[in-house]
Amino acid sequence: DSKTPLWMRLNSGFRSKFKIQNSKFKIFKIMRKKIVAGNWKMNTTPAEGLELVKNVIAQSEAVCECVNFIVCPPFTHLSQVAEAAKGSRVAVGAQNCAAEAKGAYTGEVSAEMIAALGVKYVILGHSERREYYGETSETLNKKMAQAYANGLTPIYCVGERLEEREAERHFEVVKAQLEEVVYNLTAEQFAKLVIAYEPVWAIGTGKTATAEQAEEIHAYIRSVLAEKFGEAAENTAILYGGSCKPSNAEEIFAKANVDGGLIGGAALKAEDFIAIGKGF
Ligand code: 13P
Repeated sequence: DSKTPLWMRLNSGFRSKFKIQNSKFKIFKIMRKKIVAGNWKMNTTPAEGLELVKNVIAQSEAVCECVNFIVCPPFTHLSQVAEAAKGSRVAVGAQNCAAEAKGAYTGEVSAEMIAALGVKYVILGHSERREYYGETSETLNKKMAQAYANGLTPIYCVGERLEEREAERHFEVVKAQLEEVVYNLTAEQFAKLVIAYEPVWAIGTGKTATAEQAEEIHAYIRSVLAEKFGEAAENTAILYGGSCKPSNAEEIFAKANVDGGLIGGAALKAEDFIAIGKGF
């Protein structure tokens, strides 16, 4: 917790990662950002969202300062939530942004508008956007470009469907999602990127990937990123998402290549979201 001296926290982080990696310890492992991000999806009214972020901010004091909290409310209350979070340790993200800069795109919200609210992150490529709104790699390349052009940090989501996992195609699916979008980034853009691995079969289903399954594919994702960006991939925060909750976060976060979580359902209750943050 935040009262523990810094050297002790670093040391315990060192030991937990070191144990898993044994001989391959590298100092930058413990420098990787730890992130707990809440994707509120299409939930909460503006008043409920405001209440939720206030509770998250208040309760976050009980969590190690090494944990970076992000909340991603719907567009309708992004402004209010960003205002409430100003000056706090809780950062704010959007759940999507437009593929175009501005103009005649009815119903769309541009990255520039989002950034103007003091919002720092944007979730892109969530499986629900890919599945229900037909987002392709082509669209996502444009959205990524808009995000970066406006100083937003994308949280880029990848993950396979149940039938792909069952056919043991999960590695190839995730690789394609990375190659088709992330490989187009410059080294400078890549340095800011956050990745979220979210197996579709674990989202909102109560079924979680085991810590071993998460570690296996997170390590694979890092290796795919390293093929293109080299050592820089060691610094990329890779979050796990899919029925992550207080009871399983600690075991999953203990894995060497898991740097936090992208939380859906459990992010809607401040107590649960904060308890997940304590999983580090
Ligand atoms: P759940 O935590 O509700 O399974 O959702 C995960 C998710 O999709 C976060 O983006």
